[in-house]
Amino acid sequence: MTGWARVSVPASSGNLGAGFDVFGLAVDLRDEYSFTPAARDGIEAGGKFRRHVPRDTTRNLAFQAFRSLAPAAAGPYLLRATREIPPQGGLGGSASAIVGGLVAANEAFALGLPQDELLRRAAELEGHPDNAAAALLGGLVLSVHTETRLHAVRVPFPDDVGVVLTVPGYRVATASARAALPAKVPREHAVANLGRAALLVAALQTGQYEKLRAATEDFLHQPYRAELNPALGPSVAAALAAGAYGAALSGSGPTIIAFAPPDRRMGVAGAMADVALEAGYGCETYVVNAARDGAAALDGGG
Ligand code: HSE
Repeated sequence: MTGWARVSVPASSGNLGAGFDVFGLAVDLRDEYSFTPAARDGIEAGGKFRRHVPRDTTRNLAFQAFRSLAPAAAGPYLLRATREIPPQGGLGGSASAIVGGLVAANEAFALGLPQDELLRRAAELEGHPDNAAAALLGGLVLSVHTETRLHAVRVPFPDDVGVVLTVPGYRVATASARAALPAKVPREHAVANLGRAALLVAALQTGQYEKLRAATEDFLHQPYRAELNPALGPSVAAALAAGAYGAALSGSGPTIIAFAPPDRRMGVAGAMADVALEAGYGCETYVVNAARDGAAALDGGG
């Protein structure tokens, strides 16, 4: 049992406004996970955010996910992780690590597990499916849990909608951001989100991008997370004023995702960065596109 694999996995933005725990969009920032047989278990890290890769194999999500699928007879492994997705930023870094470990094990040990099964396991390890589904499938994915299974459907994301990501210089732990949510919400808020979530898909599919402004409004999670995410309100306002179609909290934050015509992305990025600088917390800005490709084994073998 000495297979090996190298896997590339995209970052992802969950929710996109009204689609709390349902929408996930893969974006073109990618981490890489390579697993090779070694004398003992270990982890090496590279990339811009290498210092954020846990070196303890019992705390590293990619390593744990890989082990969860590896046959009992598999020997020790070295994980080389190249981390380019900002950590704890609301860009699905933990989902990417889990998906990377699962896809690597599937490839290295020629397990032949279908995508459905990989997604079921990834969503279970992650606790919610939106980021894991986008990281695995790529593009825009809707995930819906029924009593018996998880339905994940990829829908086309248009090429002429660009993405701007602003990562403010503070961090928000997903656990605290989930703890801030109420157990019950008023019916009018549920209805408002239902309509906006449907509107987001319809606007993207029919090219009515001006409707993304309304479609990215949310009543189920963003208002309750505003205190943890002081950049949210001013950044969304700045993005819209600079010509973005719409903007929302990425996952549980602190990143803000804006959708814009490709040639307006730089202006939107600048406007959002100015707000962050003025407020004193600074930010990093990424002008990117949606990622067509989900997790992919770059190479590997037995
Ligand atoms: N849908 C999740 C949440 C994403 O908003 O809590 C976490 O990144």
